[in-house]
Amino acid sequence: KKRVAILISGRGSNMVSLIEAARAPDYPAEIVLVLSNRPDAAGLARAQAAGIPARAVDHKAFPDRARFDAALQAELDAAGIELIVLAGFMRILTDAFVEAWSGRMINIHPSLLPLFKGTHTHERALEAGMRLHGCTVHYVVPELDAGPIVAQAAVPVLPGDDADSLAARVIVQEHRLYPQAVALIASGGAVLDGGRVRFAERARAAEDAL
Ligand code: GAR
Repeated sequence: KKRVAILISGRGSNMVSLIEAARAPDYPAEIVLVLSNRPDAAGLARAQAAGIPARAVDHKAFPDRARFDAALQAELDAAGIELIVLAGFMRILTDAFVEAWSGRMINIHPSLLPLFKGTHTHERALEAGMRLHGCTVHYVVPELDAGPIVAQAAVPVLPGDDADSLAARVIVQEHRLYPQAVALIASGGAVLDGGRVRFAERARAAEDAL
């Protein structure tokens, strides 16, 4: 099983869905560490309640981003982490850290990328008059929210929606999509290859075997 660390900054609902999925005996990843850049993140207590080692690496305790990232790296090394899963982690990582984890770090973003990078995605989707919205799992690259796409889920935008009702519809899909995408990557079903996602041709292989 791939040794996974989840990085959070807040409530950690995606983290909980990943921890629950990883309880299945045949799940190809194990969640061995949760880190938060915010000591007050509600997700830390939720991880500990689930029996997962969870620690804060308070970004305010470091003079610059490089030294914060070095502290993260030390925690990840100590735990033998092979894949980083960002789940509501709201801190920009240095290019050096991102490059060091190239192909081994993914993020979930609450929009159908490449639309609505950054924050306040639900408000902006409504403002733009979108009839569809959703979430995206992507590999992390130095440019924010711009990495190669692994998986997406779409939801309708309904008459009368506000940002909260739309966010509630999207997060249901996040909780379904992220455990699937992590399993796909952890099992080798998707790899980053020359800046593109290469998907294993499992379906074809199964057909050929008939
Ligand atoms: C999720 O909607 C996630 O997609 C988003 O923050 C929320 C975290 O919720 N991530 C980003 O905006 C990343 N820039 P959670 O803490 O309950 O999983």
